[in-house]
Amino acid sequence: MDKVFVENILQGKVAFVTGGGTGITGGIARALAESGAKVAITSRKQENLEPMKNLIEQTGGECFAVAADVRDFAAVENALNQTVERFGKIDIIVNGAAGNFLCKADELSANGFGTVLDIDAKGTFNICRAAFEELKKSRGQILNISATLHLTATPMQIHVSAAKAAVDAITRNLAVEWGRFGIRVNGIAPGPIEDTEGMKRLLPKPLKEKLAKKIPLQRFGRIKDIENTAIFLCSDAASYISGVTLVVDGGHWLLGTSLG
Ligand code: COA
Repeated sequence: MDKVFVENILQGKVAFVTGGGTGITGGIARALAESGAKVAITSRKQENLEPMKNLIEQTGGECFAVAADVRDFAAVENALNQTVERFGKIDIIVNGAAGNFLCKADELSANGFGTVLDIDAKGTFNICRAAFEELKKSRGQILNISATLHLTATPMQIHVSAAKAAVDAITRNLAVEWGRFGIRVNGIAPGPIEDTEGMKRLLPKPLKEKLAKKIPLQRFGRIKDIENTAIFLCSDAASYISGVTLVVDGGHWLLGTSLG
């Protein structure tokens, strides 16, 4: 496994990562630990966190795994409090918990739409809001993971597109409101990332081949591409960057995200 691009760049920092057990945000959690940060990871189920906790610890990192549903503000507060008890502070928040499934707009129920909004958008707000006092103390930062789906329009993804547009709005608004506390707020919008559950589950093989040909850089992204971007944005190398959602997609969205 490739190491992150600058070792120990986050030495002494404490990071809290939602959705940190698996996929892109699992990769970010591992990369933060490799970069020297102590890492707390959270998701709905404790058993989904244990393999990542073990992996981080086996490679010499420190990891605290705490289950919480990001839709539940009290549970979020509890998970953050436990992290502060364990590690003493919080410097970095990564909001990666997300829900996704393919569904046509005319078949999607109101509850289906609301569920994804609740996980992605309300969950992101809940974590940011509950972590505010700690971030104010540490002059810390927030990294919100969104997507490129809503930059144009993506069929069967109205719920996720609306949720990710809200996440990008949260990034900009908090950057403006919380900048005076020294808190930086940024985002990453990953394009098609090959080694993820979403890509395996949501994209049938013929569409995958069609999509590959449409990406200007002529390859799918890798979780490592997102990890490196996350480490850069969380480090002092990005100390004057706030309110930005960095698109990491090989140029894909410029040609439209639809496969039609
Ligand atoms: N198609 C259409 N509607 C769906 C759906 C699908 N594939 N999956 C869930 N929904 C709807 C449900 O029907 C329900 O609406 P209803 O009450 O009107 O029937 C609503 O969404 C809530 O579903 P439920 O399963 O009760 O919610 P949950 O909170 O347990 O889980 C998700 C919601 C989105 C997390 C769930 O779909 C899921 O587990 N997805 C896989 C994991 C995932 O998304 N990972 C992210 C990878 S990018």
